[in-house]
Amino acid sequence: SKRAVWGPLVGAVDQGTSSTRFLVFNSKTAELLSHHQVEIKQEFPREGWVEQDPKEILHSVYECIEKTCEKLGQLNIDISNIKAIGVSNQRETTVVWDKITGEPLYNAVVWLDLRTQSTVESLSKRIPGNNNFVKSKTGLPLSTYFSAVKLHWLLDNVRKVQKAVEDKRALFGTIDSWLIWSLTGGVSGGVHCTDVTNASRTMLFNIHSLEWDKQLCDFFGIPMEILPNVRSSSEIYGLMKAGALEGVPISGCLGDQSAALVGQMCFQIGQAKNTYGTGCFLLCNTGHKCVFSDHGLLTTVAYKLGRDKPVYYALEGSVAIAGAVVRWLRDNLGIIKTSEEIEKLAKEVGTSYGCYFVPAFSGLYAPYWEPSARGIICGLTQFTNKCHIAFAALEAVCFQTREILDAMNRDCGIPLSHLQVDGGMTGNKILMQLQADILCIPVVKPSMPETTALGAAMAAGAAEGVNVWSLELEDLSAVTMERFEPQINAEESEIRYSTWKKAVMKSMGWVT
Ligand code: G3P
Repeated sequence: SKRAVWGPLVGAVDQGTSSTRFLVFNSKTAELLSHHQVEIKQEFPREGWVEQDPKEILHSVYECIEKTCEKLGQLNIDISNIKAIGVSNQRETTVVWDKITGEPLYNAVVWLDLRTQSTVESLSKRIPGNNNFVKSKTGLPLSTYFSAVKLHWLLDNVRKVQKAVEDKRALFGTIDSWLIWSLTGGVSGGVHCTDVTNASRTMLFNIHSLEWDKQLCDFFGIPMEILPNVRSSSEIYGLMKAGALEGVPISGCLGDQSAALVGQMCFQIGQAKNTYGTGCFLLCNTGHKCVFSDHGLLTTVAYKLGRDKPVYYALEGSVAIAGAVVRWLRDNLGIIKTSEEIEKLAKEVGTSYGCYFVPAFSGLYAPYWEPSARGIICGLTQFTNKCHIAFAALEAVCFQTREILDAMNRDCGIPLSHLQVDGGMTGNKILMQLQADILCIPVVKPSMPETTALGAAMAAGAAEGVNVWSLELEDLSAVTMERFEPQINAEESEIRYSTWKKAVMKSMGWVT
């Protein structure tokens, strides 16, 4: 007999840089019923280049959906209760594919990729009018991070892409667009769309008018006909065309950091969350107003939960390398076998013994925006061992968060009284305690850490025509939280932080 589940269910794809997940929630209780996760390969074909296979990403989504449905079956839960699917995704990562064959024309150029450094330099010399041209329209600094320069590179360097554009067969998309197009039918009627949050990361999107910007497209040399249609983050885009969930509407779409903001229920101005994934991203809701930073933060679209609903903006502090430093210790140095092992190593020593690790593998993002930086480990002595390096890697994540939190506090005027966190790394208790110590404010973590997927599920379930999730009823007081209180004094914390800053200075200007 099937287990009775009170309320319709909603599924969410969480396609991150490191892994893909599919999760199913009960729309009445937000309870996570089942999920499946698959790790995604990253390729580094040259120094600074980071690519992924769009087809592997797509297959991982299908695999996660099928496996989760099997697990639900084992729990005697009827998958016909799944009424909607939301998509959240790693942002900026750029795919161009052929709409006739459905084949990607090149690997996905991942957000971390640095190949466009020289493109950025030459473009920055050609900025029309004042230097604010790009930032005032998009909220973003001209950087290798965003899609426009990656797409510019593909158009300049890949013959197959040029040819497909000439033949009017090329489609561009970030991962959300690639997935939604493929899942809704691909070559036979796939829907080519994106949502306002993902569009706001391309550097081609005007965040005031919420439209693709002709001047920006001209500046970056992008033909506008290859761009997806921009929709709200919560509406029915199309139906699943194949697999166990065939016929279920895809009705939520949010860049993963926006999804986490929604999942953490940061709906009020001034509410913020920090997500520890491959990178680390602190977003603060600024309401209907675009707030521009004086301290290296981005202005970005937070969400627009429905066609007729208002848009919300956020200030964002982006750190490129967080969980990725743990993966690097695992895959490149081999000093741990699994990512979880880092906690054991760090715990053994409980200090870095003066060792500082600046993981500027992709240059430095906020608040520096310094592409010339590269990673360094400094303060080594013969006493230093792998445990100290592991500890320093965790501390680096915390120091980088401190830098973006300081910038956020300066821009907002009212300092955050605590930090709401989520993401894969928050399972690491040492990291969470260190974070509270380095910030000198409490760190608060929801007991259900899958807030990114939850946000996408909420958006999908609340969409017009689905209506199984009522966002108005969301109440944070109902969520159980784990708290980490600062345990070292502020003075000690300041000393460590100022030494970190010295190390950051040393990492800069490495590449000229
Ligand atoms: O902007 C990049 C971001 O969306 C990647 O997220 O979860 O893969 O660190 P994540």
